Amino acid sequence: MSIEFSDEFDFENRIVDNTELPGDVPEGENPLRPKTLDDYIGQETVKENLRIFIDAAKQRGETLDHVLLYGPPGLGKTTLSAIIANELGVSVRITSGPAIEKPGDLASILTNLNQGDVLFVDEIHRLSRAVEEILYPSMEDFAIDIITGKGQMAASYHLPLPKFTLVGATTRAGQLTAPLRDRFGVVLRLELYTPEELSRIVMRSAGILGVEIEPDGALEIASRSRGTPRIANRLLKRVRDFAQVMSDGVITVETARTALERLGVDEIGLDSNDRRMLKAIVNFYNGGPVGLETLAAAIGEEAVTIEDVYEPYLLQIGFLSRTPRGRCITAAACEHLGLNFPSGTRAQAQPSLFND
Ligand code: ADE
Repeated sequence: MSIEFSDEFDFENRIVDNTELPGDVPEGENPLRPKTLDDYIGQETVKENLRIFIDAAKQRGETLDHVLLYGPPGLGKTTLSAIIANELGVSVRITSGPAIEKPGDLASILTNLNQGDVLFVDEIHRLSRAVEEILYPSMEDFAIDIITGKGQMAASYHLPLPKFTLVGATTRAGQLTAPLRDRFGVVLRLELYTPEELSRIVMRSAGILGVEIEPDGALEIASRSRGTPRIANRLLKRVRDFAQVMSDGVITVETARTALERLGVDEIGLDSNDRRMLKAIVNFYNGGPVGLETLAAAIGEEAVTIEDVYEPYLLQIGFLSRTPRGRCITAAACEHLGLNFPSGTRAQAQPSLFND
């Protein structure tokens, strides 16, 4: 069966969105999340390095140095922080930059940690300046100075904190202030996963969910998941629904293909929004270069959504290039979309994930 893609078709919550959507994480603990480094598939270099740093800290009886994880959303930064805590045999407290509104919020979190605990701060680039100022001495000296009252009533208290490991996560390492970045002893970049790695993740998740799946079916889902485990697991759950109704519950390559086409996800993981953006570059800007803000306005999206959600994968597969003067479409993208490559386009397929 073949289904025509309509570019009018717009999901409120894109199924290939790499940010977390309601329904991705069931109530309570997510059973699909690996709990140990051995169970964690992919990111081999990151894993090997982490294993050494964790073992070394444990051998010395010290806390692990602060860790910064960066890379596109959905690659397992939160999962890795929980794994780090588990491997160290300590607890993890999970929060995010925007959730820590005031210095007092951070002070309360820090004073409630136990010795050696992991504090995971997602979207750490979104911490306010005032909170960041408290974080520096906390990371460096494991102490904070609290000032109460004003004028003559002002008093300052030096509050020692338990030694802890901060695991910060960000999609944009470039937006961290230099003093914050410099306080992380370990900086690790997560990469998009290969289809083979994602296929192993899909097989593992299917096993946990009790879904029967053929290896070709898993590879089909993996190939359409934009290098992102969060998307792969989401697509697996939707394909499972189709398989249940259409093919006795077994996910074969045919059921996976039919289901994903119905969901508007093409054979390399693009959906209507990607196609709309790429076509806009060709149709409105003659293939580019077009500035990020201009492009965002043209397709009615936020610039940060384009940068964090659409672009990492399109850059990785060489469908888009970033130039100093803006975004350009590539010949490969035009070929995939069945469009003529505009002759004036300056694009060269130069996949580059994080340099702007
Ligand atoms: N589920 C989500 N991400 C995973 C990973 N990297 N390894 C194993 N299972 C996962």
